[in-house]
Order: sequence, then structure tokens, then C-alpha cells
Amino acid sequence: MCGIVGYVGEKQAQDVVIEGLRRLEYRGYDSAGIALVVDGPIAWAKKAGKLANLEKELAESPLPGSTTGIGHTRWATHGAPNDVNAHPHLGGHHRVALVHNGIIENFAELRAEIEAAGDELRSETDTEIAAHLIERALAEGGTLTEAMQQVCARLEGAFTLVAIDAEDPSRVVAARRSSPLVVGLGDGENFLGSDVAAFIQHTREALELGQDQIVTITRDDVSVTDFDGRPVEGTRYHVDWDLSAAEKDGYDWFMRKEIFEQPRAIGDALLGRHDPAGRLQLDEGRISDDELREVDKIIIVACGTAFYAGLVAKYAIEHWTRIPCEVELAHEFRYRDPILTRSTLVVAISQSGETADTLMAIRHARTQRAKVLAICNTNGSTIPRESDAVLYTHAGPEIGVASTKGFMTQMIAAYLLGLYLAQVRGTSYADEIARVVTELGDMPGHVQRILDGSDDLYALAEELQQARVVLFLGRHVGYPIALEGALKLKELAYLHAEGFAAGELKHGPIALIEPGLPVFCVVPPRGRDQLHEKMVSAIQEIRARGARTIVMVEDDDTGIEEFADTIIRLPRVSTLLQPVLAVVPLQLFACELATRLGHDVDQPRNLAKSVTVE
Ligand code: F6R
Repeated sequence: MCGIVGYVGEKQAQDVVIEGLRRLEYRGYDSAGIALVVDGPIAWAKKAGKLANLEKELAESPLPGSTTGIGHTRWATHGAPNDVNAHPHLGGHHRVALVHNGIIENFAELRAEIEAAGDELRSETDTEIAAHLIERALAEGGTLTEAMQQVCARLEGAFTLVAIDAEDPSRVVAARRSSPLVVGLGDGENFLGSDVAAFIQHTREALELGQDQIVTITRDDVSVTDFDGRPVEGTRYHVDWDLSAAEKDGYDWFMRKEIFEQPRAIGDALLGRHDPAGRLQLDEGRISDDELREVDKIIIVACGTAFYAGLVAKYAIEHWTRIPCEVELAHEFRYRDPILTRSTLVVAISQSGETADTLMAIRHARTQRAKVLAICNTNGSTIPRESDAVLYTHAGPEIGVASTKGFMTQMIAAYLLGLYLAQVRGTSYADEIARVVTELGDMPGHVQRILDGSDDLYALAEELQQARVVLFLGRHVGYPIALEGALKLKELAYLHAEGFAAGELKHGPIALIEPGLPVFCVVPPRGRDQLHEKMVSAIQEIRARGARTIVMVEDDDTGIEEFADTIIRLPRVSTLLQPVLAVVPLQLFACELATRLGHDVDQPRNLAKSVTVE
């Protein structure tokens, strides 16, 4: 949520900052702005709407050259998304410019203090007060770094702040509390970004910052302190993906590219996680096997799509480990006073690793002495840093706001966790674990086959362009997939879409069925538990009431044709792994329908990637 860039070096800061903002625009696109240290007061420009509006403004009224600058792309919290509320915000005398991600919770009190001192605030934002406070601290002497320290000590809430001082072109100073910020380490230049995409085209060397830290970058130096000014060491790391991963590679949308990357992403998520005999090894765990043997309850916390990955995981984990597993929306979790003990394992699932709701949930869990394991895609992000163990999903950067390969690899990682627990606790036979590991290894090929045969889905999207309501039905692990299919349509096509457990239909939702209503139905594989037959009955019931049924079913499942208006075939796999395949057509359908409706698939309205406010 909000993208932040900072630069000091030898290049034109405007070019570097705008390029960084372009790569971070998925984090927020309500407005964009830039500020530069030049000879004289700060030079700045900001504009409501997408980055293109700012670029147009800069083309018409160029800013003076500069090698020190900051930029911001906004997802609005305090104040409407207009020009005035766009970042950067300036101090009263335009000496300091500041960009911000997060929420300053005590802003009302600080605002009153600034106004009482006679300073006029121009915007409705919480950010502007920080710019004023830093400028006032600077006016009393000292450096921008010292002023930042003084002000951070007074701020409550979660924030990343990045500031420049018109009187000191040599440095950019940033502070971080519970919001993302990484440093890019260059040669004769250094960078700041909300994530590494901001500077990946310049350097793949990065420095991770901890909680409550301040970083000062100059051309040749990076120094980190805590909020009290005591020097601390950041953690240096090499970014294992390159510029091409952050580009569209010929696809119309990042989302489509990311859907098509899923066979590779599944392979990477599995890589190095098991030996040739199929025995699992989770190399990133800091929770011992003895501690895992003690676990008597698992609670998965997550939001949105990641929550649905958690719902899928519950079925697999309980089946393989016999440990009770609950799944909770992270924002509900800590407010209901959950029962947690030392033998509770809390699993946080988050693509970004920065989702504030999930972060707060794991902080609560840790205060209750529960063990926390993160399933996360973003190296060095806050959630894994604050967890006892982490299983990285290795999906590569996910830039489309709607999660696809992130979801896919969250499911894969959760399966691996379930199998590992089963192995450690001896609750599944070794050959059963090995069989599932082998089946997981087949998934990239199966997903590729679905992708290769996606033409029918494009025709379906064409046909359903006029639909205003779409329903999704599933049972067992197909139920979370129904929820995920509906969420994808809501966020991309702005349609009213709902997912239901098929067994629940007759308890109310069947009243929604009317002639022509499109209903996607995920049919479980045939097995001993009659789930398949029950799902087929549900399809018959809605078909009898005129629904237009789109039935997703295994390759060799015959006899269903007479109840299906459209059939989508899935390769035959075991029930627990079917979500890996069933979600793919639903992702493609949502992407295609939204494209045909003329929506911005990568940047849906009102949304942003990485929700760093509660
Ligand atoms: C939907 C989507 C969101 C995220 C949710 C959690 O397509 O992407 O629902 O899944 O905001 O985000 P992470 O996984 O970053 O914690």
C-alpha cells in the first residue's frame, strides 16, 4: 500500500524515481508525486490519478536537474485522492519534503499542536504534520537524520517516512516502523524502495531494515540507527530475481503473465524441499522437530486470497497430521481473545509479508507464547522476520494486484508443511507422503496443460460479458476454490460474485437461482466418500431451476455432460490436490472477462497490493 522511492547518486534523480514509481505503482495508484533537492527550495510535482498524469505534468513543466530525490505513489487513507493530498508533503517553509506509507495514529493531536504554533496545513493528510515537525526540528540545528529521530519518537502508528532537506543534497533519510522499506546498495549511488522492484534495474544488492530503524543514504554510504540514534547493522542480501521478472514480457497484463508462470512457480516452490526418496526437509525452519511434535493445535491466519489458501490447507493438514486446524481471518483473530498456548502453532500466510492485519495477528500470537510459522513470498519482509520459522513460496515478484501465482504457491507450501508435520509426527506412512510428493511434482505439467487448452475460457468470457451476477459452488477443498473464483471476479470484473459450499445451497442460496444465471461448479474427483455424487445432485438441482452451469470436472468423468452447459476438463489428481488445478481456469476467466469489460486488470479500482494499514 503506497509505493515509496528515494535516490541519491550521479544519475538524474527524476528518471530514477519515476522509473521506480512505475514498478511500484501496483502498491497504490490514487496519485503520484516527486520532490528533488535543487539549488533553492525543494522542487516538486504531484498529481491525482495514475503515474501517467504526473509524467504528463512533468513533460509540460519539467523540474530542474537533480541527483537527490524522493517519490510516492499513493493508496489514500487520510484525505481524498486529489492533488493537494498527494505526496510529497512539504514543511511550512518548503525546506523539507516527505513521503509516507502507513498511518500516524496520533495525528489529530500533532495537527492541533502545529496549528496552535501558527503553521498552516494545506492537506487533510496525516503525513503533512510529519513534514512540518521535521522541518521545525531542523530549524533548531542538526542534520535531517537527527530531526527524523526526534520526530519518530513522537509518532504513533505504522509508518515508513522518507525525507529530503533542501539545504543538504547529500542525503535522503528514511524511518521504518511496521511498514515496508528496503535499501538498494549501488556503486556511487544508493536507493530506497518499498520493495526491491523500485531499484532492481540498478542493483540486486539490498539491505533489510528492522523495526524502528532510521537509515541515511548518501552516494557512498548507508548508515542505520535505531530511533534513539544508536548504530545498528542492517542485513545485506542478494535479490534472486532480475528485471525481466518485474516486466510484462509481452503479456497484456502482469496478472496474465503471472497465471502463465504458475507451472514454473510450483516447481520453484517444491525445489530442494525433498530428497530423492521423497522425504521432506524444510530448511528454513527455526522451530525444532521436537517442538513440532508437541503441537496440539494449528491456527492459520491470513486475509483475502491467502485466507482461502489457508482453508485449502486445513483439509490437507488435518487429514495428514490429525492435528486440529482452525483458519481465521487475521483481522478478526486477535479481537476474539483466541485460546493460545505454547503448543499452538500459528501459521501466517501472506504473499507480501507486510499485510498489517496478519502482522498484528502474529504479534498477538507471540505475546501469548504460541509458535509462529510464516508462509510468505517476499524475502526479508516483516511477517517472516517476526516469525519463529518461515517457508518461502518462491513464486517470484507478484505485481498484478490480484493474487494468482502467490495463491498457488501458498497452497503448495501449506501442503509441504502438512506433509512435513506428518513425517515428523509419524501420522502418515512414509510411502503415502512420498506418493503425495510425487503427485505434487506432476502439478507443473498438469497446470501447463490447462493453460495450453484455455481457448474455451476465452469464448466463455465473451459469452458471459453481460452477466451481472455469477455464482461458484464447491465442496470440501473445492469450496475455498469457489470462494477464490468469486473473489477474483469481484475484484477484477466488479461483478457481484459469490462462492458457496454446495451443501449449503438448499439452506437458502438456491433462492438466488434463476434462468440463465451462470454458476461455476467444481466437481470433486470420484472417490469413496460420495462427495462427487452429492455435487452432481446439486448441479442437477440448479440446472432444473434454469441455471447456466459451467462444470469443472476430471478428464475421464463421463455422464455429467447432460447437466452441463459448458464443461471444463481437469487432469485427474487426488482430491486434496485438485485445488491446484481447479483455480487456474477461474483465474483465467476473471482476467479475460475483466479485459473484455475494459477494466484495468493489474490495477483494479480502490485496491492496492500489500495492505499495510489495518
Ligand atoms: C486478492 C488478493 C488479496 C490478498 C490479501 C492478503 O486477489 O490479492 O485478497 O490475498 O490482501 O495479502 P497478502 O497475501 O500479501 O497478505
